Order: sequence, then C-alpha cells, then structure tokens
Amino acid sequence: MKEKIAVAYSGGLDTSVIAKWLQEKYNADVITVSANLGQQKELIGVEEKAYKTGAKKAVVLDLQQEFATDFIFPALKASALYEYTYPMATSLGRPLIAKALVDVAKAEGCTAVAHGCTGKGNDQVRFEAAIAALAPELKVYAPLREWEFKSREEEIEYCQKHGIPVKATKDSPYSIDENMWGTSIECGILENPRIAPPADAYQRTVSPEQAPDTPTQVEIEFEHGVPVALGGVKMNPVDLIMKLNAIGGANAIGRLDLVENRLVGIKSRELYEAPAATILHFAHREIERLTLDKDTMHYKAKLSNDYADLIYNGLWYSPLRFALDAFVNETQKVVNGVAVLKLYKGNVELLGRWSPNSLYDTSLATYTEEDTFDHKASIGFIKIYSLPLKTYYRINGNPTATTEELTAK
Ligand code: ARG
Repeated sequence: MKEKIAVAYSGGLDTSVIAKWLQEKYNADVITVSANLGQQKELIGVEEKAYKTGAKKAVVLDLQQEFATDFIFPALKASALYEYTYPMATSLGRPLIAKALVDVAKAEGCTAVAHGCTGKGNDQVRFEAAIAALAPELKVYAPLREWEFKSREEEIEYCQKHGIPVKATKDSPYSIDENMWGTSIECGILENPRIAPPADAYQRTVSPEQAPDTPTQVEIEFEHGVPVALGGVKMNPVDLIMKLNAIGGANAIGRLDLVENRLVGIKSRELYEAPAATILHFAHREIERLTLDKDTMHYKAKLSNDYADLIYNGLWYSPLRFALDAFVNETQKVVNGVAVLKLYKGNVELLGRWSPNSLYDTSLATYTEEDTFDHKASIGFIKIYSLPLKTYYRINGNPTATTEELTAK
C-alpha cells in the first residue's frame, strides 16, 4: 500500500517542491493542508496549485477565529513578549498549523506528515514538538533538512520540469512569514544588523514620516483580559485585530527591529511589523495597572517571560503552559475596562483609562483636603518596616563601612 503523507502547504516555492518531491522519493500519496491564519497574502488559488503538484487532495482551512481566541488571546493575557519585545506571530501560528496538519492526517489515514522548515530555525522545533505531543505515532518528514536542492533556481527548474506553476514575478529578497498577529521579515540585506532596514522590507506599515499629521484616537474595551470592543462597538476577535492592524499600520505603529536568540543557538536579526499586537499589549498592560493588586501584578510579570519562552521554544502544548494559563486566567477576572489611546507617527500614547474594577482610589491618592489616608499611621509603619536595617547596622557599623572596617570591629 502507498504511504499517505499530509503536507503543511503554503503554496510557496518550497512547499510546492516538497509536495512533488515526497511523491517521487517515497512513492507516496500527498494531501496538502493550508491554513488561513489571517495572512493578507490570500490563499486563493492554493488549492489548484496543490493539485498541479500532483496532490491527491488539497485541504484549505479557515482557522482565523481559533487562532485569535485560543492562541493569540492567551498570549496577550499572559503579556507574552519574547525577549521583552517580540509578540510572536510566527511562534504562535506554528502549533495551530501543526494541530490542523495532525487532524487532517488522522482523518485521511496518513502515516506521516511533512513541513517546509529549514534545519536551522525555530519553526522545525515548534512543528515537531507539537506533533510529538498531539500524535507521536506520526512520522515527520522535513525535506529541507535532507534534499539535494542548493538554490531557489534549482527548485524553480524542478517545478518547471514537473509542470508546477511558479510565480514569474521577481522574487522578494526577503523571507516573509505573515498572519493576523504580525509579519516576520528576514534574509537579504537584513542579515547585516548594522544596516537600517530598506523601505521595501516593510509590508504592512508606513514609516512615521509618511504617517498622517493628525493623530488617530482609539478606544479599546477589555473583558477579562481580552479586547471586545473598539470605540464602543462590540467586535469579534478577528475583525477587531484586523481593524487595529489597519489603523496601526497607517500610523506607523508596530515596527520592531530585533536581534534575537534562536532556540538552536544562533543570534538572528529579524524585522517585525505587528500593529495590532503592539496596540493591544500596550492597552492591556494599562488596564492591568489599574485593576491588578501590586503583588499579583509583580508576580505575573515574572511569569510573562517564562510564558513567552514556552511559546518561542515550541512548547505550546506543554503541561506547564496549561498550568500557567490557569494562573493567568485567574488574574484576568478583574481585567475589565477601557483604554483610550492616541496613535501618532509610530507612537502609542495613553490618553485615559477607566474600569469598573479600578483599584485607584482618589480619596487615598489625593493631595487635596478630600484626603482620607491616615498620615499618622505611617509613623508606626516605617518604624517596624525599617527595624531590620536599624538592627543590622547597629551590629555591623554604618552602610558605608568597608569590609576591613567591619572585620576590624
Ligand atoms: N524569528 C521568528 C520566530 O522564530 C520568525 C521566524 C520566521 N521568519 C521568517 N521571516 N520566515 O518566531
């Protein structure tokens, strides 16, 4: 019996070659799986293209709502930014594509799956760790790690030989991955971190210079840590994210230029454009400042980093991520409210915020005669609070004493 392989298929050059190559090399039947995660580059025509590679079946799935609700929003609630910066559009997309691939593979009776990741990136790890968690019985092929092609030209030649249509348009010098949470751009001139990104590297944002001279105001409402409305109008997660991408992109919001640490030990330079993610992380943080108590807020900040590392490092389906979600969701019960932002030439500025769960108490904060804070209570508080310091220096001499003076004592 012929082996049946489900292939993650974007319709691009690499995955088109993979679809054909697997049929030839393993005498296998190939089923392509394409996922719509809200990338602007439409998937129209991808099905037809897949059949031209000789695929037995082409599956195209619209996973936009699932991506927003079950992948993007948990990361937003956790304030997960890799190395304090990158909102992880690519990293969050992989575990969902892997899940779709596994679902199709099982439904179609495949014994193997395949992806088009290279052997030096994070994405191979994300795909394969997800597959290991979801369907360890499936074999995984990663043709880019083993095949003989050395250049795009060789791949194009292979396609032409097999009647697979390849775009006649001039190739972008960049490698671009895109979905509704952001665009990742690398390769070409960007490999030199000393050189500023050329204007043509950016895909979905204008430069601050090109942005309008009048600012744009947005009002974002959150319920339990997730955005639910813009300007008072309730919107579904996907529409809300898309709208913020459009508004943010037009105001030059969300450009990031990052040298980052890959899981496989390489430092790489990547450019990101994430207008909606930048705006939503900013607004969410401001609502948390208003609604979380100090200890919870500080503790959560420590977890955010670990949560981001889990996503970046391909461990989305790990038990630790589920456990961290339980913690994060508990904290988000009170993260309700509205943030009003000004978007202007690449900047996001906070104009105001309010919340039904606001812990801000004017009668405690005010310096006017409305003040209800008990100033005298501070005397006893500071006395006890500083007692350990007093005791330490009574025994060891004052804080500026040198080690010699302390030992001589
Ligand atoms: N460095 C990013 C990550 O590991 C993006 C990887 C894909 N980038 C690309 N330009 N194709 O999540």
